[in-house]
Amino acid sequence: MKTDPTDDLILRPARASDIPRIETLHLITFEDHRRRETGFDQTPFIDEFTAAIRAPDGARRVAVAERRGQFAGFVAWTILGSYWKGRTLAVNDLSVLPQHRGHGLGRHLLAAALSQAPRRTTTAIASLWPNNIAARELLRRTGFHEVDLPGPAIGYRKRL
Ligand SMILES: CC(C)(COP(=O)(O)OP(=O)(O)OC[C@H]1O[C@@H](n2cnc3c(N)ncnc32)[C@H](O)[C@@H]1OP(=O)(O)O)[C@@H](O)C(=O)NCCC(=O)NCCS
Repeated sequence: MKTDPTDDLILRPARASDIPRIETLHLITFEDHRRRETGFDQTPFIDEFTAAIRAPDGARRVAVAERRGQFAGFVAWTILGSYWKGRTLAVNDLSVLPQHRGHGLGRHLLAAALSQAPRRTTTAIASLWPNNIAARELLRRTGFHEVDLPGPAIGYRKRL
């Protein structure tokens, strides 16, 4: 993965020792959504990903950003589809600790996930809640476009 010597930024696959921090950050994001978004009714789903950190399942992946030697954020994604039918990369969670936001980590984490798409991955997708301005802006600035979804969330799609 990528290293940025100017900010001591390291992007690497998640390890079992990262799991408590990943879980905590995932729950912070959920609480923020509950406070901010009307009708937010999802339940935390990070267990599927922490299980895949412990025992890789071939579909779910998690990468971590370390800034100045400290855990600073993570991205969790899933590879859907097959080599023959074509694949889609779904970005399921992307979170940076509040004190590390605004330094390009979100952009680096997203790029790291997309750069690891296996062959014949044609599309990246995500969904965001309408008041999530930071994440919506990040996706818009990295080439995703909005698509309609049933329900309150907004779909995002990018051709790879
Ligand atoms: C969304 C999030 C990951 C962005 O992380 P970040 O490290 O602060 O983002 P970056 O510094 O890489 O910024 C990326 C781009 O998004 C834009 N952006 C980031 N935060 C923004 C904000 N609050 N308002 C407007 N634009 C914003 C930046 O301008 C930047 O654009 P640029 O690179 O062209 O200048 C972070 O805010 C976060 O963890 N949010 C909570 C978790 C969440 O809701 N995740 C998405 C749902 S899964």
